[in-house]
Amino acid sequence: MRDANPQTIYLKDYTVPEYLIENVELSFILDEEKTRVVSKLTMLKNPLSHSQDSTLILHGEGLELIRVAIDEQPLNETQYQQSNECLNIDSVPQDKTFIVEIGNTINPKANTALEGLYLSSTMLCTQCEAEGFRKITYFLDRPDVMCSFKTTLIGDKDKYPVLLSNGNKIAEGELQNNRHWVAWEDPFKKPCYLFALVAGQLECIEDSFTTMSGRDISLQIFVEQSDIDKCDHAMQSLKNSMRWDEQTYGREYDLDLYMIVAVGHFNMGAMENKGLNVFNTKFVLARPDTATDSDYEHIEGVIGHEYFHNWSGNRITCRDWFQLSLKEGFTVFRDQEFTADQTSKAVKRIEDVKMLRTRQFAEDAGPLSHPIRPDSYIEINNFYTLTVYEKGAEVVRMIQTLVGKTGFRKGSDLYFQRYDGQAVTCDDFVSTMEEANDIDFEQFRRWYSQAGTPVLEIEQEYNQQLKTHSITIRQSCAPTPRQPAKQPLHIPIQLGLLAADGSVADICLDDHAPCKEILIELKEQQQTFVFEKLEERPVVSLLRGFSAPVNVKMQQSLEELAFLLSHDTDTFNRWEAAHKMSSQIIFGLMDDIKQGKDLELNPLLVQSYQTILQQSWDDLSYLSLLLSLPAENYLAGQMEVIDVDAIHKARVFVEQSLAEQLQNQFLELYQRYHKEESGQFDAGTIGRRRIKNICLGYLVKLESTESYQIVEEQFKTAKNMTDQMAALAVITDSANPNKLMCLDSFYQQWKDEALVIDKWFTLQACSSSDDSFNTVQDLTQHPAFELTNPNRVRSLIGAFSQANQLHFHAANGQGYNFLANQIIALNLINPQVASRMVSGLTQWKRFDENRQSLMKKALEKIINTPDISKDVYEIASKSLVPG
Ligand code: PHE
Ligand code: ZN
Repeated sequence: MRDANPQTIYLKDYTVPEYLIENVELSFILDEEKTRVVSKLTMLKNPLSHSQDSTLILHGEGLELIRVAIDEQPLNETQYQQSNECLNIDSVPQDKTFIVEIGNTINPKANTALEGLYLSSTMLCTQCEAEGFRKITYFLDRPDVMCSFKTTLIGDKDKYPVLLSNGNKIAEGELQNNRHWVAWEDPFKKPCYLFALVAGQLECIEDSFTTMSGRDISLQIFVEQSDIDKCDHAMQSLKNSMRWDEQTYGREYDLDLYMIVAVGHFNMGAMENKGLNVFNTKFVLARPDTATDSDYEHIEGVIGHEYFHNWSGNRITCRDWFQLSLKEGFTVFRDQEFTADQTSKAVKRIEDVKMLRTRQFAEDAGPLSHPIRPDSYIEINNFYTLTVYEKGAEVVRMIQTLVGKTGFRKGSDLYFQRYDGQAVTCDDFVSTMEEANDIDFEQFRRWYSQAGTPVLEIEQEYNQQLKTHSITIRQSCAPTPRQPAKQPLHIPIQLGLLAADGSVADICLDDHAPCKEILIELKEQQQTFVFEKLEERPVVSLLRGFSAPVNVKMQQSLEELAFLLSHDTDTFNRWEAAHKMSSQIIFGLMDDIKQGKDLELNPLLVQSYQTILQQSWDDLSYLSLLLSLPAENYLAGQMEVIDVDAIHKARVFVEQSLAEQLQNQFLELYQRYHKEESGQFDAGTIGRRRIKNICLGYLVKLESTESYQIVEEQFKTAKNMTDQMAALAVITDSANPNKLMCLDSFYQQWKDEALVIDKWFTLQACSSSDDSFNTVQDLTQHPAFELTNPNRVRSLIGAFSQANQLHFHAANGQGYNFLANQIIALNLINPQVASRMVSGLTQWKRFDENRQSLMKKALEKIINTPDISKDVYEIASKSLVPG
């Protein structure tokens, strides 16, 4: 596994492929342990290549080669060489197309890395992005080699009654020995990372969609038989996505068939293979009693995401893997907007920013910080990051903010038209937006090459005589690995002004017409904006809608925040004010804890909550966000040195105090919205469940017999998973004496539903109870726990190390050591998932010296694993680089 010296790949070394593939005919004789692959490639020298070399180098890993022929002439062993990663064929024709025929075998059952062809329970399926196709057969496994595929699948009729691949089914038939075959053809040229096949005993639900030009598309979702009653929501989401992409981007689906298959073993969320998406079951299956409201929303979002890839990713793909954000950033942006349109725009934006700040900002401030278009990597699988996806989406969003919605649509139309069928770069995308809008993005392009989260420092000055308010903004960005100095970025800042009475003030800036909201563009290191005609000092509402992925440093008193919370017309900044206020109060309490003072809750927070509770709200999900305290890891992100114990203690104190002082209001709200509305998923019902469960969380903090009764009652009688989960989560995190009983009864109730059992693991992994480390350790021995299932690993190991800050970072290092051992055990089973688990340790510089040294020790232990995978090695070793 471990290359003595794992090779680094650089963007600057990109060259066009030396050979091209015009088309490929694949055939598979499927078998769990020995699948036979025959591949017939029609190839030619790339006219754009300058190379004089007549050797053809094909990628291939872990393949058993049976034969190679060129233009029907079998080659003998002197005419080709095999290495661990390649097959080199000598002297192929340079001036005409030629046919390479390859026969090889693979073992899907032994493939626990879940890349290439593998077994998920009894079904065979593939995962090829990024470089998995080379584990199926020899090929030019790079995204700028695009060709048409014809695939024939042969398998046992009982084991593999369903045989699927990309495109349209063109023929099928029977064979001897109880076997059958199906042939598929995908007329659209695609890179091999979009190839897929699935074979197994699958059931499907079917529906259809009529496109805007009147074509009928047949839609199919395939699952295991026991899950057939959990597909309706996914189907509805697919139809919503198809309609939305027509309405918003004018994009229509191209094939006659769209298939989705749900598999229980999957490294990621889902995969956009052309015409045949393969999904983690987590993002398909939902029934009111098994899935929460948030599961329902994620399913819709991921179905949308993969569907939108058909244009942003498949029709137009990436030239090389450094351009990953071209498809991912853009597609995440598209799915965010889709979800916002389906649900609540305000809530969606806030949820996305919370995630960005807690996780992407941490990544960008740590040893693995990289630009959204990285310039080097060891293992590309390690670059499916929050930065490439989420910050990438923010960069696309800024482009839209700068050119406006209409301009953005003009740009995307031009992009889809110009590059259809090609493999292109991020720069091509930006240039198209520039051209369509006659705008200069020269400086804006730095967002693609510079890493790190910029900081904006704000100073304000009101001039009574001149009636002006000046805002000076200074931008900076801390050094990141290999980027010591940064250049100023082009930053769009949406801004509003509020008058002292809470009304919206007119904005008069330079020669702009007076307006209520303005977009200012920061380009220099420091710029001052002078707002005129202000009779009194205004309150500034800056970076509305979170118009750029930056950190803002601006003095704001608690009173000012309370004012914004009451009056800001921007829903994002209103929430921001609430969140900042509670954060500041919690930080103040942490200081008090350090100084051994008695704790007392600032009455301003209670007053603000009271005010909010007295108002009437349409969007109860939004109200729930206003009434929620920042999460522990969110608070940690803002600390110089993270003190997990103080954060926990101060935050719990605030929760308890709020519960005590507002218990009547919380109880009243709880009772008002505690209705039986299972099975309904409109925004109104979701909002009612959400606010009710927020109130329940506060009430149980009282640790009263009465509140325990309420929560147990909800747990026992809940008919939907949102309510049952919310109750059990609160119970698991409390000192409720019936906790173990509830956990056990939940397990018994749901032991046959894998996704629900994942939740059961996660709840315990995230508990702040004193015994949670031991519980987690014991759970690794539970019969339902297995390292070969990524969802299970994430639900226990991932949740504990990434979401249980208090116990994972126990001062004695037991959490770190536990994680190191799990990663070492997982390293050979599934390197991709193992490598993702390392992220619990990468942020060591943010902790005190004792923890730092324990975390580094754990990382060193990991690095010294014999046979360490490239994946784990890259993350662990880069994490340890000092600086
Ligand atoms: N391309 C997939 C997506 O974002 C993610 C993925 C990457 C899935 C690699 C599997 C492997 O939609
Ligand atoms: Zn994607």
